[in-house]
Parts: sequence; structure tokens; C-alpha cells
Amino acid sequence: MQKEANIEQNKSHYDNQYQRINIDRIADVLNNRDSYLEGATKTDISWVGMYYGNLEQRLSGKKVLELGCGDCFNVAIMASLGAKVYANDISDRSGEIIKALNKRFEFNYPIDFISGDITHANFTEHNFDYVIGKAFLHHLTLQHEEQVLKVSSSILKATGEARFFEPAINSKLLDEIRWAIPIKDRPSKLFSPKKFKQWEESDPHPHRDNSSKHFKTMGANYFDEISIIPLGVLERFYRLMPSTKDKNGAFKRRALKLEKYLPGFMRYTGARSQTIIYKKPKG
Ligand SMILES: C[S@@+](CC[C@H](N)C(=O)[O-])C[C@H]1O[C@@H](n2cnc3c(N)ncnc32)[C@H](O)[C@@H]1O
Repeated sequence: MQKEANIEQNKSHYDNQYQRINIDRIADVLNNRDSYLEGATKTDISWVGMYYGNLEQRLSGKKVLELGCGDCFNVAIMASLGAKVYANDISDRSGEIIKALNKRFEFNYPIDFISGDITHANFTEHNFDYVIGKAFLHHLTLQHEEQVLKVSSSILKATGEARFFEPAINSKLLDEIRWAIPIKDRPSKLFSPKKFKQWEESDPHPHRDNSSKHFKTMGANYFDEISIIPLGVLERFYRLMPSTKDKNGAFKRRALKLEKYLPGFMRYTGARSQTIIYKKPKG
């Protein structure tokens, strides 16, 4: 799918989805930030990945750009931790949420919203400490992703870091099994192929390579140091548990903790997600 068509599809999908975002819920999280982060960074794979290596302790006073900030929970948390946050999304709703957050909270630095695709933005400053994205890159076509990494590399300080939390598809077999299992509004590709095709047409993800190998190769064009942390080889099985089980996240917490003791090839092949850390931007 072409870049602009893909952006349009994502925009209409998320403008609609974020109508449901409730500012009071973000306010609740901010009012209980430390206990929220303590739980989320141990049980919710996206927060485990995003804050890998205790990122929360390094954000105060740092200049951070979040790409695809979406529901704005993460930008709100980073701003409350004392970071100077620039939030970017194509959804206008993200901009509305940020306006409301700035009104309601006295952050050290109010959050700046950069609307639209970042490859069209004019950056006068090139001194960011972090460029981050949580479940963002896999929404871009490969060519678009390359442009975004180029921009990211050009606006970071020499000591800066780009960090992305993304799905990991390192095994074709596991991927096919994943599509076969129906979840929420997604029918099974194996058992309901027609319904799956219909669902796929409105899905905002382009067909693309989301392997760790891909992110390593792509990143090497713009960064000299790359680390990929595979996540979720055990945690992914929570989907097989009855929905009444693991209400307090005990299974996920244990699974995410225990996977560290597994051999590297097993973690890599079975990962469902990954944290990608790019350092030493070629600028
Ligand atoms: C899966 S959501 C993740 C949102 C949020 N980061 C989170 O973790 O909940 C992907 C986000 O990327 C945004 N997005 C997609 N394409 C984009 C683009 N070209 N530029 C900026 N944001 C984009 C979507 O609007 C959506 O908010």
C-alpha cells in the first residue's frame, strides 16, 4: 500500500478509536503514577518493552519525541516524570487529548503536539535525547519507515537514543498459528477465511516484515549501535488461558520474568514483541 493511502487509513481508524479515550482515566493514572508504572512495567508487555532498563529513571529534564503517541498515556507519564515531551500523531484526537492534559496538569514542561506525519515536519532543533515509538513503526510501509528513521537519526544528539517497542515475527509457523486463533474482533484466518479477509481490509497494519532481522538491517542505515530485546516467548500463552484467569496479571508477570533464563535462540524465535534500541545516530 502506498504511503499516503496507508496514512489515511490509519488516521480514520484511530480518529474513530480515540473518541473513546477518557481524560479522567489518564488523570487517574497520573495521580497514581508510581504504582501504575510499577505494575505495568512488570505485567504489560508494551510497558515492559518501552521502559526496558528503567527508562523512567532517565527521563527527567530530557527532550523526548514520541512518534504515534496515540491515546497519550505514555506522553502524559513522561511529562509527569519531568521530560520535555513533543508528541506526534496523525490523529487529531491525540492533539485534543494533549490540550486537555496541559490544561489539567502543571507539567514542568507542557507537552507540545506535532500534528501529522513526521517526515513532513520542519525541525529547527536537532538536540533530542530520545525519539520513541510504542507500537508505531509496524504501522508504516517499509519505505516510509526508512524515512522516519532518517529523520529520527538527524534530530538526535550524538548521545541520543531511538527506542521502539514493536511486534516481533521471527517464526513463520508461530505467525500462522497466531492468525488461526481468533481474538476480539479478529476472526480466525484458518477457520473463517472470508470473515478474516473482510477484517483484513479495514486493518490499519500494512503487510510488511516485522522480524528482528529487518529492524536490525533497516536501523543500520542510520545508527551505528543496535540492540534488539526479544520479549514474550512465554507471556504469549496467556491467550490460551480462560478469560477469567490471570485477572491480576500473575501469569504474565511470571512469564516475563522467567523468559530471561531461556536460551537466546528460543527467546528470539518465540518472541511476540521486541524492544529496538538504536544508538550512535549517523545523523
Ligand atoms: C497501535 S497505535 C499505538 C498508539 C500508542 N503509541 C500506544 O502505545 O497505545 C499506532 C499509532 O500510530 C499512529 N500513526 C500511524 N501512522 C502514523 C504516522 N505516519 N505518523 C504519526 N502517527 C502515526 C496512529 O494514529 C496510532 O495512534
